[in-house]
Amino acid sequence: MPVCGLSRLISQTIVCVRVTGVDLILVWSEGRAVACERMCPHEQADLSLGHLSGGRLFCPRHAASFDLRNGRISYGWPSRPLRLYPVRIRDDQVWIDADAIRSPAN
Ligand code: FES
Repeated sequence: MPVCGLSRLISQTIVCVRVTGVDLILVWSEGRAVACERMCPHEQADLSLGHLSGGRLFCPRHAASFDLRNGRISYGWPSRPLRLYPVRIRDDQVWIDADAIRSPAN
């Protein structure tokens, strides 16, 4: 399903979306779109208030960071990886596979 215009994502870099009742964020990082869960897997901080640097998303609460290629949390944090979801760009829109959100792989 289409969830956001590509130009809006590029200009805002982090956009909140809701897909099949699940809160996600879209991130524009290093020239590509990434979709991930909105709440930090450590203590549920809102990652839409975080910041991006070097291909990583930094949590606003404790400053752990997540690799946006694979979701891995920075060294030393006892949390699972950030859930990432497949996205596609088509017709200047960012699309998310709703089935992947209903049954996440990680
Ligand atoms: S809540 Fe995100 S690092 Fe702790």
